[in-house]
Amino acid sequence: MEGYSDSPFRRICKRINPDIITVTEFTSADGIYHNAKQLMKKLSFEKEEHPIIAQIFGKNMDTFIAAAKVCEDMGFDGIDINMGCPAKKVVKSEHGVALRRNLPLAFKLIETLANATSLPVSVKTRLGWDDASDLTEFGKGAENAGADMICIHGRTYIEPYNVPAQWEPVYEMKRNISIPVLGNGGILNVQDGLEKIGNLDGFLIGQATFGNPWAFLEKSREISFEEKLPIIKLHSQMLIEQKGEYVGTREIRKHLVSYCRGFPGAKQFRPQLVRVESYKQICDVLDRIAEAVEPMFH
Ligand SMILES: Cc1cc2nc3c(=O)[nH]c(=O)nc-3n(C[C@H](O)[C@H](O)[C@H](O)COP(=O)(O)O)c2cc1C
Repeated sequence: MEGYSDSPFRRICKRINPDIITVTEFTSADGIYHNAKQLMKKLSFEKEEHPIIAQIFGKNMDTFIAAAKVCEDMGFDGIDINMGCPAKKVVKSEHGVALRRNLPLAFKLIETLANATSLPVSVKTRLGWDDASDLTEFGKGAENAGADMICIHGRTYIEPYNVPAQWEPVYEMKRNISIPVLGNGGILNVQDGLEKIGNLDGFLIGQATFGNPWAFLEKSREISFEEKLPIIKLHSQMLIEQKGEYVGTREIRKHLVSYCRGFPGAKQFRPQLVRVESYKQICDVLDRIAEAVEPMFH
């Protein structure tokens, strides 16, 4: 997930549940093709993140072929094509979810990538543009084009991220194809995913992981701030190690706010959390929060 599923956060999630499959933030195939340094950094990962899938977006056959080679050389375990991103800039360039309005191009991309790489190729998309009426047609076409797996976010392009996801059209698509299908949308934790999985082969947890890698625990349970503290510090440390103190402290701020959400007594520290500028400052604020919230949990 753009802005979230970078290497430090993926490693944190793997610590909580080593059995998960991780996916990179979406990365431009055109950017990879032009060897933009920043994008190559975005794709970098550590050994412990396997199995790891690179997610790429674009619409250009040549750049997809070049990106496939880069992903293979980097040691990825799979490549996922993003056909779900609704961001204005992405849709305007006819990337992301815009490909759902151009099925011939969408299938050609899948076919081109599948022929260009020995890695498994998956596609992540939404129910559809404004309804789910062509989802099964999309699934069949993607399978015929060579996709090895499809992930469906159970909302349409026009729906915001907070409306309830629809699962029935995803179950229906799965009844009509034979490759694995993963469901996604509004899943709170592993248990919740297992309750929604139906005839599908797996699921993806998105926003519920923000500040909450414990969403990946096999069995969900209440976790005290005291127990979260070492993980939050480790996440901060990893991010600063990877991106440097300036960028790392800026990027950890939103995670810190999410980690502290829901703890009575933590809210008053928000102004400090969104201004941290060093690892020491992060630890100081977190320790003060631990003192403020702990009595309520013991
Ligand atoms: C901030 C943010 C960034 C996202 N970035 C990506 C992305 O890079 N690639 C992708 O396939 N989906 C991305 N998504 C969509 C999520 O993967 C997921 O499909 C969506 O949030 C629905 O699942 P959820 O209800 O569990 O969050 C993003 C969503 C959010 C909120």
